[in-house]
Amino acid sequence: MLDLIIAGANLPDGRRNIDIGIQNGRIAAIEPNLQAQAAEIIDALGRLVTPPFIDAHLHLDSALSLGQPRMNQSGTLLEGIALWGELKPGLTVEAIYERAKKLCFWSIARGTLGIRSHVDICDDRLLAVQALVKLREEMKPWLDIQLVAFPQDGYFRAANARENLERALAMGVDVIGGIPHFERTMEDGTLSVQALMRLAATRGLMVDMHCDESDDPLSRHIETLAAETIRHGMAGRVTGSHLTSMHSMDNYYVSKLIPLIAESGVAAIANPLINITLQGRHDTYPKRRGMTRVKELMAAGINVGFGHDCVMDPWYPLGSHDMLEVAAMGLHVAQLTGVEDFRACFAAVTENPARIMNLENYGLAPGCNADLVILQAEDSFEAIRLCAERLYVIRRGRVLAQSAPRQSQLHLPDGPATVDFTRAGLTDR
Ligand code: FE2
Repeated sequence: MLDLIIAGANLPDGRRNIDIGIQNGRIAAIEPNLQAQAAEIIDALGRLVTPPFIDAHLHLDSALSLGQPRMNQSGTLLEGIALWGELKPGLTVEAIYERAKKLCFWSIARGTLGIRSHVDICDDRLLAVQALVKLREEMKPWLDIQLVAFPQDGYFRAANARENLERALAMGVDVIGGIPHFERTMEDGTLSVQALMRLAATRGLMVDMHCDESDDPLSRHIETLAAETIRHGMAGRVTGSHLTSMHSMDNYYVSKLIPLIAESGVAAIANPLINITLQGRHDTYPKRRGMTRVKELMAAGINVGFGHDCVMDPWYPLGSHDMLEVAAMGLHVAQLTGVEDFRACFAAVTENPARIMNLENYGLAPGCNADLVILQAEDSFEAIRLCAERLYVIRRGRVLAQSAPRQSQLHLPDGPATVDFTRAGLTDR
């Protein structure tokens, strides 16, 4: 007797009408026509059932702080950094905690059950570390949170960043961050990557650096990050976030760089919502998009995730932590409109970031955690097209969140009473 069966599921890999049997919080069976009894059955009705969305690049400490102490008038990265600097002195542990917690509830409702959050460690009080370590523990039953010690003002450039990073690790922060392009010189940037990689190798920790978030084609710290990853044998445990300078690099140099990244096993995270709004700001026309070379990185076999990065903060005023919105923007900006590209963009907000975070037992196979989202869409193409509603969000076999199917009532003399924008009912497919 199983605890739960989700019947008639379409899966992200294209399999249709599959039954998923769940017991003790794990997937016990996943096959067509599952012959078993269960205490509860949810009929997916031919809708897409996926492992949860994962956001491997977020800033929980600044999330939902929009308008404090004022709005970003220019919308630029630099005014955003200045604004965050104005906000920092008035921050409290409680205020950071409450904002981040509210965001986590949005995440759960959106079916995002894994978050890697950077946490600024340049404030000597480490208020954000205190707030987010507490939140990470409290959210554990519902949501996997990893924290990255992020020296926002520069590992060498900010006076106490090295000491504070050590303190943050001692307080339980999981991953080592960095920001080499923000150090005083290129050389300092290189030295910061080397120092942080040494520290990570010594401590056995993963690394996720803000790397080359710049339109400067000569910002090449990803090269050092890849080389250091090879040197320390840390393939699969290191991530370069943003990598926007790659958008502007010389093609010949990139033809050497991408194979190096592939060899190193460094993963890449693009943040489409933020990259498309913050990059290219010094350009007149044509304006660069500024997102890294997603299609080419994927083609080389590099693990690429899409992150939300910011939600209603000094850098980005929009968002509700909807990872399908992120996938849709990534797809548009990278022109990933081929048939397989849709699946690749869906993977960039599900299985790829799960691998970046090294989440255990993630996926759709017997033995995996029964963490599942049922979407109001029949496949990943439709899920992205509609930013489809999350009808059920399930964690360890238990329903955490439910939403009613989205539809509009029509009041017309002829025609249907409702529309839901799905293809359901069409016979020509
Ligand atoms: Fe970021």
